[in-house]
Amino acid sequence: MPMLTEIAEELRAGRPVLVYDFDGRERETDIVFASQFITPEKVRFMRKYGGGLICTTVTEEMASAIGLPYLEDVLRTSSLVPDILLDASDLKYDRNSSFSLTVNHRNTFTGIPDVDRALTISEFARFLGELEEFGERATVEFARRFRSPGHVILLIAREGYFGRRRGHTELSTYLVESAGLIPSATIVEMLSDTGRSMTKEEAMAFASQNSLKFIEGKAIVEEWADGQGNG
Ligand code: 5RP
Ligand code: CA
Ligand code: ZN
Repeated sequence: MPMLTEIAEELRAGRPVLVYDFDGRERETDIVFASQFITPEKVRFMRKYGGGLICTTVTEEMASAIGLPYLEDVLRTSSLVPDILLDASDLKYDRNSSFSLTVNHRNTFTGIPDVDRALTISEFARFLGELEEFGERATVEFARRFRSPGHVILLIAREGYFGRRRGHTELSTYLVESAGLIPSATIVEMLSDTGRSMTKEEAMAFASQNSLKFIEGKAIVEEWADGQGNG
């Protein structure tokens, strides 16, 4: 298993890393890029070799600074949505979701082609990188640049990372932030031609055939816990 320093090097070079969550969770592998380096070619790579939902993460602190809510809260407070639809007690692998709103940059056309999604994602990361400049105006500035609904799914990583949730949302955002980059990852699940999610072994084989680094959530959380003095 590569060290986190090797993973950080890959992310800083704009290369993807493959992140498997946990044997007791989704048992899925996501392709992870640092959002600030997303290009149309990288979006194409994600939809060809990942094939799941392409999502972009943001930390909880930044989400609240720009007025970005959890989708669950939006739906729960809407009188248009029946409560029973939001009952997630039968969710097999987690207690809650990290989904937020979907967005498009205002300079996109339909929002879905590689060029449009790359623009939305890279501009979103750039905006987060400049956030401090905007202070109180951050929410208005966000809405001036992006509209919702759109074709990029935003996910919010729980504050403090793994104390509250241990999804790919937290794993990928933690890796990008630890690499010293703008704390937003763009991720997609790897699906196989069998119609199922890739197994860990299939994802590891893809990593070695393509000289990519593969890491498990267990190794990431262990290193995080060491840093917290809980190791
Ligand atoms: C969005 C998802 C994926 O599983 C993605 O990996 C992020 O979610 P999580 O944090 O639950 O792993 O549901 O396509
Ligand atoms: Ca999920
Ligand atoms: Zn996941």
